[in-house]
Amino acid sequence: MGKLEGKIAVVTGGAKGIGAAVVKRFFEDGAAHIISLDIDRERAEATAKEIDPSGKIVAGMKCDVGSEAATAEVLGRVYDEYGRVDILVNDAGITRDAMFHKMKRDQWDSVLNVNLNSLYNTCRVVVPRMREQYYGKIVNVCSSSAWGNVGQTNYSASKGAVLGFTRSLAKESGGKNITVNCVAPAQIDTNMARAMPENIAAMAVKLTPLGRKGQPAEVASVISFLSSDDSSYVTGECIQVGGGFLMV
Ligand SMILES: NC(=O)c1ccc[n+]([C@@H]2O[C@H](COP(=O)([O-])OP(=O)(O)OC[C@H]3O[C@@H](n4cnc5c(N)ncnc54)[C@H](O)[C@@H]3O)[C@@H](O)[C@H]2O)c1
Repeated sequence: MGKLEGKIAVVTGGAKGIGAAVVKRFFEDGAAHIISLDIDRERAEATAKEIDPSGKIVAGMKCDVGSEAATAEVLGRVYDEYGRVDILVNDAGITRDAMFHKMKRDQWDSVLNVNLNSLYNTCRVVVPRMREQYYGKIVNVCSSSAWGNVGQTNYSASKGAVLGFTRSLAKESGGKNITVNCVAPAQIDTNMARAMPENIAAMAVKLTPLGRKGQPAEVASVISFLSSDDSSYVTGECIQVGGGFLMV
């Protein structure tokens, strides 16, 4: 019996990278249904089909989690079809890097909107229902950059806020049997990390005790732990998944 047997999970940013690895891992863990929400509809549907050719367990749906109205509408359809959400993984995220003295307003706004406001947009719908059902596992994807990184004031601000949001929501929700945790990846081999200049990426790997980049599946396994009842007494935590890059 898989450790997510019978569970219904929503994963944002599930079309590729870490989110796609989470969808795959939840499928392997035996979840009853996994709904992968992504702004890239085609890729979300293709990834879902690749993981679950039967189409009975994994569904890819288009959703811009930066839009409150779109997210409420899509999650409304999820509740109509599946009745409940046991697990919510807020993975969707973007970077728009620039030194702060050159940063444009839209680089700031877009990163804060997708990386932070999306948590309001998903949780505002899901949390009241999790409170009613007296069960929920929420995992947010933070970043080692929350502790500071050159060229990422916007991204660091959004991820630092993800950490604060996680802790406060955990304090509010514990009494309703809901856990809220986050993971902080660093140097994971995805499109996002590949966008980094090569010399900077190589330097970061040199500063990583495990001496290599991480794979999306190595983040997904930690998210799976935090989404399962194996972590039933863990809440408000942030687990670094960066090969030791950052120890806090
Ligand atoms: N890769 C890393 O090294 C690393 C390190 C730390 C944190 N992270 C975080 O991990 C998460 C996943 O990143 P990744 O590396 O897999 O990136 P990625 O670019 O490979 O995947 C991100 C996914 O989010 C989707 N997305 C973007 N904007 C969206 C929106 N408005 N609505 C819905 N979906 C949207 C994209 O289409 C994509 O499928 C992000 O939150 C990122 O900040 C990644």
